[in-house]
Amino acid sequence: MPSNPSEFEFVPAMSTIAREAGALLMEYFRRRVKIEYKGEADLVTEADRNSEALVVGRIRELFPTHTILGEESGSLAASQSGSGSETKAGYHWYVDPLDGTTNFAHGYPVFCVSLGLEYTDAAGVAKRVAGVVYDPTRDELFSAELGRGAYLNSVKTNVSATSRLSDCLIATGFPSQKRHKNPNIYFYHQLTLKTHGVRRAGSAALDLCYVACGRYDGFWEFNLNPWDTAAGALMVQEAGGVITNFAGGPFDIASREVFATNGLVHDALKQEFEEIFAGRGLEPLPSPVGHARESAAGTKPRP
Ligand code: 2AM
Ligand code: CA
Repeated sequence: MPSNPSEFEFVPAMSTIAREAGALLMEYFRRRVKIEYKGEADLVTEADRNSEALVVGRIRELFPTHTILGEESGSLAASQSGSGSETKAGYHWYVDPLDGTTNFAHGYPVFCVSLGLEYTDAAGVAKRVAGVVYDPTRDELFSAELGRGAYLNSVKTNVSATSRLSDCLIATGFPSQKRHKNPNIYFYHQLTLKTHGVRRAGSAALDLCYVACGRYDGFWEFNLNPWDTAAGALMVQEAGGVITNFAGGPFDIASREVFATNGLVHDALKQEFEEIFAGRGLEPLPSPVGHARESAAGTKPRP
């Protein structure tokens, strides 16, 4: 087993590409990029598109037979014929050129470049084989290859050893569009009361890497896309963690349910999900109207 990621097959090239894209993002970030709007409230910047163009260009130079799915450009065929794209066998990249776009656009330093690589064999069985996530604001590079462990800046990393839900720091996220279409606010409320806290930092790829390196004990989110999770899912698995759907079944990159933990608290958190989905034990939210009335009357709101 390699003792550091430089001995890996794909991680060295992926790391170079991710660092290059990260440096480009930082140039824009320092200049406070001009904010543009795509759709309702989805902030898309020139940095997003230029980062993806850079990544796609590098992949095509180095791996011309590979296919690519990018957040900005969608599905791209291999640049060379004979790629096996007719059978869908071969290597397939998931590229998020800027995960955490809203943070980036507001000058909040939590964003990254995420590159996931999958291999589909002749029988059509797909496996995630390599992943790199680069946070250019902290110069942190998370990397993993199938069966070879997970690394943070070339040092092997593992999930946390927290075994009680009440001792956990966990994380979730909310999409920038159509937030009212999922019930995650109930999950946020319930789990805030049952853990050390629920963070909501705004980059799903980094959230998964933070589970992999033990900063978070768990993470879940509704409605993510494959480019958000392809690299981070492998990081979690290679760091000794568990990633499934909300019911504890196999994680499917297309399913839009992501639930990752250190493994030790997976069942406990899954049980909480079951309770919330069934509407059992939901703690009522304190009434804002009552609070305002008590404040106006000069009475102390009850602790
Ligand atoms: P992005 O920054 O690349 O858009 C926030 O918790 C996470 O959700 C981020 O990884 C973000 O990726 C992603 N995201 C943002 N808007 C989304 C949307 N409308 N649907 C699904 N995922 C979204
Ligand atoms: Ca993303």
